[in-house]
Amino acid sequence: MPCVLVVDDEPGVRESLRMLFKGDCEVATAGSVEEAERILQESTPDLILLDLVMPGRSGLDLLASLAEEVDPPPVVVLTATKTVNTAVEAMKRGAVDYITKPFEVEALRIKVRKLLERRELEREVVRLRAEVDERERLGGLVGASPPMRELFQTIRRIAASRATVLLQGESGTGKELVARAIHDLGQRADQPFVAVNCAALPDQLIESELFGHERGAFTDARDRRIGKFETAVGGTLFLDEIGELGIGVQAKLLRALQEKQIERLGGSAPIEVDVRVVAATNRDLEADVAAGRFRADLFYRVNVVPIVLPALAERREDIRRLAEHFLAAARADANRGPARIARDAIAALERYAWPGNVRELENAIARAVALAEGEVLEIADLPPAIVRASELETLGDSVRTGQLGFETALGNFEKTLIVEALSRADGNQTRAAEQLQITRRALKLKMDRYGIAAS
Ligand SMILES: Nc1ncnc2c1ncn2[C@@H]1O[C@H](COP(=O)(O)OP(=O)(O)OP(=O)(O)O)[C@@H](O)[C@H]1O
Ligand SMILES: [Mg+2]
Repeated sequence: MPCVLVVDDEPGVRESLRMLFKGDCEVATAGSVEEAERILQESTPDLILLDLVMPGRSGLDLLASLAEEVDPPPVVVLTATKTVNTAVEAMKRGAVDYITKPFEVEALRIKVRKLLERRELEREVVRLRAEVDERERLGGLVGASPPMRELFQTIRRIAASRATVLLQGESGTGKELVARAIHDLGQRADQPFVAVNCAALPDQLIESELFGHERGAFTDARDRRIGKFETAVGGTLFLDEIGELGIGVQAKLLRALQEKQIERLGGSAPIEVDVRVVAATNRDLEADVAAGRFRADLFYRVNVVPIVLPALAERREDIRRLAEHFLAAARADANRGPARIARDAIAALERYAWPGNVRELENAIARAVALAEGEVLEIADLPPAIVRASELETLGDSVRTGQLGFETALGNFEKTLIVEALSRADGNQTRAAEQLQITRRALKLKMDRYGIAAS
């Protein structure tokens, strides 16, 4: 049952309101602001009926302290007809409505019921939204497909431990985002998250990047430098593209992981490093091990918790959700842009192959938001590669469903390819013909047949 708090200094008013709501709600009463505050410390009513003029502190005082609360209950002010001005003042300070005394019983009852219903609905929306969020996102990760749900479970399960994690997945599948989620959900969340891109530097530099060096350790080492292992102490070290490390560095990394100790280049004393390591690669590391490019012992040392991120094409049911997520982000960023995505544009996105995975989708949406002019993101706003793939698919579909004859479809296909080649060649027919590997004469004939104008 919903609960209403009546605050009024007149016992008669408190009693009649208690009688009025009997059976519909629980009623708590207070004869002063102080008493109301005591009650509010113990419990939160769904609605407050508040008298403004009372001996001691006034109702406005209570409104002021409620305004400090998170999600305070709505307040309806009770006021004598002659003080309607104060009621208006109370509304300015956050009261949702007012009722003049002496009140009309039925009007009051309806008002209260409506407010209580609205509050219940708001609660429901908040609860449902939280539930959906909980299931469809984790950290910065969005997804509701079975592989993503499984991934979320794995992340929740392992975040608290300090087990080494190896993330494998194609470029753009979200490896870095997963590494961050593992860190953010773990016990080391308030400690540093340090990312090192192992592919970005040659061997000797990556060594000093990871382990640091003492002054004079090598020609260019003018000063002492603290490595990323030490920077990450207490937190997480993200070794991105670990498959690119040279064999020499692999040996040193293995030692650091096994001993939980490192040595700065040119240093003599080992340094304890308590660091959780999350490594990532888009290579097939097992193949690299078989080929002798990656140390087997290091592979086993980092592959304690293996996580394989699915390519976007393997979880097409996430595409729409991701696209909407990126649309909202791009819109918030640019402070403009379409509010929704056209149905056929979604269909094109859902069909496309996504060799660049989520990153490619993110870029496609960002580009489309920059181009789109109306309230709707249209298929024409998408990158040409996606539009083209979609056109060819549609063509294939029309043949399969018998809407289009085979010859007509081939003709459309030919026409699309020619228009495209010409536009890529800026209208230069010689270059377009070369590209299509036909003679210029053959191109000209086809342009005539399809009514394609020379530009
Ligand atoms: N599930 C997801 N939800 C929301 N955004 C995602 C998701 N997966 C990836 N992204 C976004 O896509 C982009 C690429 O992700 P990320 O950098 O983590 O990929 P990666 O696997 O590390 O790629 P690479 O191997 O190329 O480094 C980022 O901007 C990231 O925020
Ligand atoms: Mg990455």
